[in-house]
This record gives sequence, structure tokens and C-alpha cells, in this order.
Amino acid sequence: MSKKQTLVILTGAGISAESGIPTFRDANGLWEGHDVHEVASPMGWYKNPALVLDFYNQRRQNVLSVKPNQAHYLLGKLEDYYDVYIITQNVDNLHELGGSRNVMHLHGELLKSRSSANPLLVYDQTTDIKIGDLCEKGSQLRPHIVWFGEDVPLIADAMELAASADIFAVIGTSMQVYPAANLINYVPHHSPKFYIDKNPAQLHIHDLVTIADVASTGVATWITDYLKIKL
Ligand code: OAD
Repeated sequence: MSKKQTLVILTGAGISAESGIPTFRDANGLWEGHDVHEVASPMGWYKNPALVLDFYNQRRQNVLSVKPNQAHYLLGKLEDYYDVYIITQNVDNLHELGGSRNVMHLHGELLKSRSSANPLLVYDQTTDIKIGDLCEKGSQLRPHIVWFGEDVPLIADAMELAASADIFAVIGTSMQVYPAANLINYVPHHSPKFYIDKNPAQLHIHDLVTIADVASTGVATWITDYLKIKL
């Protein structure tokens, strides 16, 4: 049997929108209702950790109450046909619940916490994090989230994955946040690139095939019309 092709998919908040998780930069997005520097930066954490914990506790509760949508499930199904690697900027667990086995969380995970003193001390976290909740070494726990101004520890692995793509797809991200948005530049020149988004006009990359649709039906169209797979 011939080796499967490598399909690498970069996802953002738009793929989880139909599941009921708000995006960041759309109308009514999270960054309209919150000051990003207050809740998603080391400075915000230093100034008011209780506010930051509260923000992510709400996000975690939201994630625990929602389910994957058709887009997540279809990406899970694609593993029958390709070696699929998902690089997600999302901090929810909907790709995993949708059946994807290789998921890299570039910006961290809501269902994990970590020591605020040692980034290597990471824990499963399904309940609220409170002031006074400590790591095994006695330091305050914080959300396992990459904040603005912090390094993205997995970016080198993500670049390597992008460079290995026979096919690359971008789904539901405004591509405004770096270094994630730069990953497309590591994809081999000859590999086809797709962009599935409700508003693809915002992105100007010349050799990109765009599908203007919400993720659930957009991913279905991509799979049947472009990958030529009958699911
Ligand atoms: P954004 O909110 O910036 O972009 C969401 C994208 O999803 C936009 O391109 C929308 O057009 C699209 N969209 C909205 N609803 C959709 C739907 N139902 N189907 C398909 N597309 C839809 O979110 P991201 O690009 O993911 O980082 O944001 C990147 C990073 O910025 C996030 O990971 C987060 C944020 O600040 C951190 O918090 C570290």
C-alpha cells in the first residue's frame, strides 16, 4: 500500500464558532468585550490575577458545555485517507473530541493549568482555578495559555509540520496573530493550499484556493469538491 499523503491543517476560532465558542475579532468577539492586555498578557496577570483567572474560568466552563460540530468530525474522518496533523490556535478540546489524533495546541489548552513559576509543571484542569491553588512546588497555578508577549514553545515543531505538508488548509482564522500566521510560508511551494473561512476576502495570498463559508459546510465542500473524497 502506498504511503498516505500528509495533510496539515491550521485552525482558529472560526472552526469552533458553530459549536458555541465565541471568536476573538468578529462582531461581539471576545476582544470586543475584554481588553486583551488586561486578561491575556503577563502584565495583566501581574496586575490582577483574579480577573485573569475569572476570564479563563468562564472560557473553561463554556468549553465543557459544548460539543464538536461537523467540521471537527469531518477532520477526524480524514484520517482514514491522509496522515492528518492539526495545528490549532484554539484552546478548546473539540478537535480531539471530533476524532483527530494529532493535535498541536499552539496557544495552549484551557483544560490544563500550569505553575506560574515553572512552565514544565502542567496539570489537567476541569474546574475553576482560584487564587491560592498551588503547584506541587507551592507556586500559584495559572491557565496553560500562551499570552500576548509570551513565547510560543511549539512554533518550531509547527514550522516543521508545515514544511512537510503535501496539502495545507487554513480553517477559521483571521491570520492576524503571529507567529501562527506565518506558518503558511513554510509550506512547500508546490503543495496546494486552501482557506476555508466565513470571510476569506481579508487574506491576500495569491496561490490560495478559498472557500467562503462557515466551517461545517465549508469543510464538507472542500472534502468532496477539492479532495474528491465521498464521505
Ligand atoms: P479571530 O477571531 O481573529 O478570527 C476568527 C476567524 O474565523 C475570522 O477569520 C472569521 O471570519 C472566521 N469565522 C467566524 N465564524 C466562522 C464560522 N462559523 N465558520 C468559519 N469561519 C468563521 O480568531 P483566530 O484567528 O483564531 O490567541 O485568533 C487567533 C488568536 O488570537 C487566538 O488563538 C487567540 C487570539 O488572541 C490567544 O489568546 C493567545
